[in-house]
Amino acid sequence: MIDLRSDTKTRPSDLMRRAMAEAEVGDDVAREDPTVIALEERAAELLGKPAALLVSSGSQGNLVSVLAQTSPGQKVILEEHAHLFRWERAALARVAGLMTHPLPGRYGLFSVEALEAALWPADLHSPATGLVALENTHNAAGGVCLSVEQTAAVCEVAHRHGVPVHIDGARIFNAAVALGVEARELAAPADSVTFCLSKGLGAPVGSLVCGEDDFIERAREFRKLLGGAMRQAGVIAAAGLVALEHELPRLHEDHEKARRLAETLFGLPGVSLDLASVQTNMVFFEVHREDLTAPQLCRHLGDYGVLAVAQNESRIRFVTHRDQSYADIEHVCAALCQILG
Ligand SMILES: Cc1ncc(COP(=O)(O)O)c(C=O)c1O
Repeated sequence: MIDLRSDTKTRPSDLMRRAMAEAEVGDDVAREDPTVIALEERAAELLGKPAALLVSSGSQGNLVSVLAQTSPGQKVILEEHAHLFRWERAALARVAGLMTHPLPGRYGLFSVEALEAALWPADLHSPATGLVALENTHNAAGGVCLSVEQTAAVCEVAHRHGVPVHIDGARIFNAAVALGVEARELAAPADSVTFCLSKGLGAPVGSLVCGEDDFIERAREFRKLLGGAMRQAGVIAAAGLVALEHELPRLHEDHEKARRLAETLFGLPGVSLDLASVQTNMVFFEVHREDLTAPQLCRHLGDYGVLAVAQNESRIRFVTHRDQSYADIEHVCAALCQILG
């Protein structure tokens, strides 16, 4: 099957499996795992921060980042479709004791005016803002990128109010590739950033939290609190190192495949798609036809050996990744033309 459901569906490459089998390991809770240390050093270097911490998932990375920079009773300002707000089981409220202040966004980003207005002064009645959170690339907005300038503008406002900024950079390398900049440039003005090894980079598990040394030490304590301190985690880190070395240089291929899908869909009857939102490895589109709903289209694609899921009666998200070849994408395009053409 050609799986277009998510870039989390990839299987580890042979190279990764070999590296995992042969990894030199130790007890990472005691910081004795050389492979974890090597991965954390590489991650910190790529993101331009002094230190990094391996965590089990993007959600855990976001949560320890938030916990390490806020106090219960504060609020977090974020975009209303942010993963942190919509898809992380209300962890900010349940675990961190925080209120969320979601702002409407355009292409995944709120305006600096809206941010400025939301940064109200704390007083006897109003909670203080503990953190501003960004997402790059922004998943629900279509895998769109926040530029260096957009990130800097948000950080300037937040910092002027004494508030730190976290970037949920689950797919920040996709943004860097699409924008033609280094990931460290995107992360530079922010106080913390997470990225995932287990999405477009194709590793089976793991995310990294990056930031200043003291922030990483606080994040380490919260990782422990959440049960995320792992022992011989070098087995995981080994796959991550392979991902950073071998998968990063090919991320642009995923973007080319998404573009090809988008351009095919764009011309088909009853399909609506915003080509401007197709910037990385995601394609969101709507099917508005009398004869076909989005779930029905996904079922038809199944007959062609293509796995896709509808988000509702009209909306579908395709995600490209390392386990689809260019030929696979041509096959999907032909299937789409037959079903919808
Ligand atoms: C933007 C974004 N942030 C965070 C996450 C959470 O990552 P995980 O599934 O590893 O917890 C995801 C997952 O898809 C995501 O898309």
